[in-house]
Amino acid sequence: MSATSELRFPEGFVWGAATAAYQIEGAVHDDGRGPSIWDTFSRTPGKVFQGHTGDVACDHYHRYADDVALMAELGLGAYRFSVAWPRIQPDGTGPVNPRGLDFYDRLTDALLDRGVDPIVTLYHWDLPQALQDRGGWTNRDTAEHLADYAVAVHNRLGDRIRTWTTLNEPWCSAYLGYGNGVHAPGERDAGAAFAAVHHLLLGHGLAARALRAAGAPTLGITLNPADVQPADPASAADVAAARLVDGLHNRIFLDPLTGAGYPDDVLAHLGRLVEPTFIRDGDEKLIAAPIDLLGVNYYAPTYVAGRPDAAGGGGAYPGTEGVVEFLPPTGPLTDMGWMIEATGLTRLLERIARDYPGLPMLITENGGAFPDKPGADGPDGLGQVMDTDRIAYLDGHLRAAHQAIARGVDLRGYLVWSLLDNFEWAEGYRKRFGIVHVDYLTQRRTPKSSARWYQEVISRNGL
Ligand code: FCB
Repeated sequence: MSATSELRFPEGFVWGAATAAYQIEGAVHDDGRGPSIWDTFSRTPGKVFQGHTGDVACDHYHRYADDVALMAELGLGAYRFSVAWPRIQPDGTGPVNPRGLDFYDRLTDALLDRGVDPIVTLYHWDLPQALQDRGGWTNRDTAEHLADYAVAVHNRLGDRIRTWTTLNEPWCSAYLGYGNGVHAPGERDAGAAFAAVHHLLLGHGLAARALRAAGAPTLGITLNPADVQPADPASAADVAAARLVDGLHNRIFLDPLTGAGYPDDVLAHLGRLVEPTFIRDGDEKLIAAPIDLLGVNYYAPTYVAGRPDAAGGGGAYPGTEGVVEFLPPTGPLTDMGWMIEATGLTRLLERIARDYPGLPMLITENGGAFPDKPGADGPDGLGQVMDTDRIAYLDGHLRAAHQAIARGVDLRGYLVWSLLDNFEWAEGYRKRFGIVHVDYLTQRRTPKSSARWYQEVISRNGL
């Protein structure tokens, strides 16, 4: 397929953009919001680049109306945002804070007024600090609390929002939050990481069940499934390494979510590192609450080799030392240092469709960080960002997604990460993923060339 050939997406294909509460909202003390683990973590010296925090971020909490107008101007059909749990239940449990819900009420109405379909993520990493003080995701009770919180949000917005997703990337919450400590709450313990995996999945199952009972029409979860490839497909050691990483990253989530329970090889691996007493009888059944949609976030492939002297993946892949070498990325890289390989997206979508059939998918995140700067040459005098590298990245990945559809994958839509430049977790504001540039001093938004390009893609339903 030539990079210039014309492609049309199926009728009704959803085009949109995604963000997350802590990354854009700011207003961390407004209207009774309680502290989250990211407030604590970002204030802990040495955790986030130059001590950046989400205190102000893109000030979206106050500028949401303009941001929604911009979405409409770009022609977005859908907008994926997350609800900040600490705005709804400042202490993580108990009474609901109506002023926190008011914000999402206003946002939802603004979106619907402009014809943009809201897609909710209930949990995009900003756990109320009060719950972390009781163990966070290592505590089984957090799973129950997530379900209560989900119902509280649904009670207010369920009459207007159709698509509900529970968690964003539980792999990151568990392994980066509790395994290697790169994300909040910054713990480094394999046992904690695996307990967190299980309690996140359990929380998803309980929340999905509760939302279904409350009448939510479309339910899902977003994962960041990895396209794991052996460095040498002819090497048994490399294939075994890929299988182990696939187990720890993909099957540990997808198998129980789709009713197969935890895979035996993953349980055996985990059992060598921890006593999995946190998995109780009946849990796997709860986790398997039926879902209608799988959200897939894809950025880059993962290449591994099997070597006895391998460094392993540290706390992000507990127990892989001496088995798995994670190969350094090659070729053109994004500003995150991530490899650019669009064919990985086709492989990943086809693999999920093959191994977990009957589950419609939505690309809930895809995009690239590039070191773009506004020039002085914008036609409006505001300064334009000519992000041709981002356009090339998005174009390549949309072609890859289209190829998966052509091969029979049930892919319903594509949401670019991200609408706005924003707080990129441990990297702070130094990495820019937006199709819209944000000047953090003035909060001025300037659509980059990629935004105008995407607008055109949407209007043509293709490339
Ligand atoms: C994903 C996160 C999202 C963003 C992108 C770059 O892992 O879900 O919030 O940070 O990476």
